[in-house]
Order: sequence, then C-alpha cells, then structure tokens
Amino acid sequence: MYKEYSNVYVNSHPLVQHKISMLRNKNTGTNEFRKLIEEIAMLMGYEALSDLPLEDVEIETPIETCMTPMIAGKKLAIVPVLRAGLGMVSGITALTPSAKIGHIGLYRDEVTHEPHEYYCKLPSPIEQRTIVVVDPMLATGGSAVEAVNFIKQHGGKKIKFMCVIAAPEGIERLMKAHPDIQLYVGHVDRELNENAYICPGLGDAGDRIFGTK
Ligand code: PRP
Ligand code: URA
Repeated sequence: MYKEYSNVYVNSHPLVQHKISMLRNKNTGTNEFRKLIEEIAMLMGYEALSDLPLEDVEIETPIETCMTPMIAGKKLAIVPVLRAGLGMVSGITALTPSAKIGHIGLYRDEVTHEPHEYYCKLPSPIEQRTIVVVDPMLATGGSAVEAVNFIKQHGGKKIKFMCVIAAPEGIERLMKAHPDIQLYVGHVDRELNENAYICPGLGDAGDRIFGTK
C-alpha cells in the first residue's frame, strides 16, 4: 500500500530491490539491462496475478481422478506501452504463455513531456479480460493515464498497471485519473527533475533496453 491508496502495491521483495539497483547502475549494459527488466517483470507479475480466478477441473492423475484448480475465464491481455514496455512482456508471458498481447504506442514530447499516441491494437473481447499494462517508468504519469484511457475507450474494465520505478507525482496523477485500477510498483523514487526524469531513476528506459540514444 502507498499512502492512502489501498490499490497501490509497492514491492518490497529483496530480489526485486536488488535487481532494480543493478538497473540503476549506468555501467549496466544493454544485454544485462534487458535481462534484468525481464526478470523483474516476472517476479512482479507473480504478485500482480495472485488474484486470478480459479475453477475446479477434472484431472486424471496416475493414481486417480480428482477435481483440481486451474485459471478460469478468458485469457489475460498483456499490454506493453511502446517502446520500453516491450522489455517486460517476455517476463510475464513466461508465467502466462497463453496470454494475448496488445500494444499501445506512446511517446513523450521532449518539450511538453505530454504523451502522443501513434498506435493502439488490443485483443478482443477486451472487456472480458484481465488486462496488465506494462511500462517500466511512471514519471509524470501522462503516458500511463493515456494508456488506461485508450483501454477503457475500447471497453477494458479490469485493469492492472505494472511499472518498475515510479515517481510520487506519477502515482498521484494516475490514481486521480483512474482510481479503479490496481497499480504495482517495483520502487517509488524521490522526485522528477526539471526534464521530467525520475530521480535517482535509471535514465531513459527505452534507450537502455534497445541500446539507442
Ligand atoms: C517513457 C516510459 C513511459 C514514459 C513515462 O517512454 O517508458 O512510457 O516515458 O513518462 P511519463 O510518465 O512522464 O509519461 P518514452 O516516451 O521515453 O518512449 P520510449 O519508450 O519509446 O522511449
Ligand atoms: N521515461 C524514462 O524512460 N525515464 C524517466 O526517468 C522518465 C521517463
């Protein structure tokens, strides 16, 4: 829980915290960075998916027939926010191989820091799925708010947002705009700087995942 928000879950697992510290190091290269993001997404995904509904199904073991629980309902939708969110997809699909994948393309204007949409494709029927939106960075919150807006406009209802590092400003903005979603955060950092970068943060997540500058 974060402040008064019972729907904001801040991770405290030592493995997640250790891996986030490795991400922060400016000497961590692209290859290792990508691997760490993937591992953190898997560890956080384990927690974020702990409320998936189960139903009893009949299974024949080598010994006898029994009723045993399996995940119920429509397949999950994983929705990375392009580009950096792509780095988290393989970590979660390692846990949920049959999940459907949507994509939302957003980039932050370098001057205004406001998000601009360039792509949106979601699996249908989106309204029947648990949707996990993934983006490593929640800075001003502009991109996250827009991503959730798109999903809701398309009919999405049960929405979880998962990020590795969040600024307090981003959490407040996202919770104000979408108080009905569940937010999973790897670590809450101190603040944003004048360029709307998270401090201490890890720099530009997209550039570090894809080796661009
Ligand atoms: C980064 C990040 C988020 C956004 C967060 O993406 O991956 O999508 O910034 O910032 P905000 O909370 O202030 O909106 P960016 O726009 O740099 O695009 P990229 O992933 O293509 O590099
Ligand atoms: N996007 C990033 O990749 N890093 C930040 O610190 C802020 C936005």
